[in-house]
Amino acid sequence: MKVSVIGAGHVGATVANVIAEKDIVNEVVLLDVIENQAEGKALDMWESSPVQMFDTRITGSTNDYTKTAGSEVVVITSGKPRSPGMSRDDLIGTNAAIVKSVTENAVKYSPDAIIIVVTNPLDVLSYAAHLASKKETSKVFGMAGILDTARYRSFIAQELNISPKDIQALLMGGHGDSMVPLPRYTTVAGIPVTQLISKDKLDAIVKRTQSGGGEIVKLLGTSAWYAPGAAVAQMVEAIVKDQKRILPVCAYLKGEYGFNDIYIGVPVKLGKNGIEEIIEVEMDDHERELMNASAKAVREVMDVLDNMHLF
Ligand code: NAI
Ligand code: 2OP
Repeated sequence: MKVSVIGAGHVGATVANVIAEKDIVNEVVLLDVIENQAEGKALDMWESSPVQMFDTRITGSTNDYTKTAGSEVVVITSGKPRSPGMSRDDLIGTNAAIVKSVTENAVKYSPDAIIIVVTNPLDVLSYAAHLASKKETSKVFGMAGILDTARYRSFIAQELNISPKDIQALLMGGHGDSMVPLPRYTTVAGIPVTQLISKDKLDAIVKRTQSGGGEIVKLLGTSAWYAPGAAVAQMVEAIVKDQKRILPVCAYLKGEYGFNDIYIGVPVKLGKNGIEEIIEVEMDDHERELMNASAKAVREVMDVLDNMHLF
């Protein structure tokens, strides 16, 4: 099993490191356009293998896609992160062209690979990667929901002073401030969270989750990487081990939830074939309204992509 990670910046390097430490694939290749960046980080990670006790071979490459040939999974993290004051959507001008060219190059050498997009704006660039790859949508999708749900779960754990391991939650919609955390589908060891946290406090947790990316940008001057890297690695693990996990993923919808021709976050079954099923849960009127607003926000950025005439 071979995984390639395109973009050896904060997120890409973390993805490679977490995958290696899980020891779930034979080989990870990191690739970047910056001379020797991927090689240097890959060597540093490989040198941790005797301490961290993994066998995964990690190598780096400066823009040489032959090194990525035959990958089962390709993760795309290349592109600009946001700076303070920017929304994820402001990144489309630079990142759409990067994701297009990177996808075309990756698919040339790994035609059967499953592609996981991370670059923002996530929902629209997952669509761009699908167009650039010309692959079926079950094999091209994006990571955001696991990260956003993890933030939501971590805040609930903090509020209740309990283990985050016991919190199960569902969060849907686009990867923006209009994302839709669903308290009705959130439990603590099976107990509905609504029985444990007051509505006011839950509303505040939902709000903090929706601006969770921005909270980190304010602190660091750039966006997050530890939680995003771990979230991508969980998707890679589900695929390479054919775990058939139910995870929130940015997926292409063909009528599910009443949406067509859009990439947006929904729960899916993730296994060796990529997205093996899109799971439709019941939504009440309020939840549906929030989902519609989120889809509208994603469509506005899709229009920007259309107007760029890249495809
Ligand atoms: P970064 O700036 O640390 O790394 C990006 C890397 O991409 C740089 O090393 C750069 O040289 C490389 N790159 C640029 N053009 C390239 C090309 N054509 N081919 C190969 N490599 C290229 O940025 P960071 O923090 O790693 O974020 C990467 C992207 O991921 C950003 O767009 C960010 O907004 C997004 N992101 C998305 C998340 C999500 O939940 N979907 C979470 C966190 C970040
Ligand atoms: C995040 O949510 C920037 O999308 C990235 O941290």
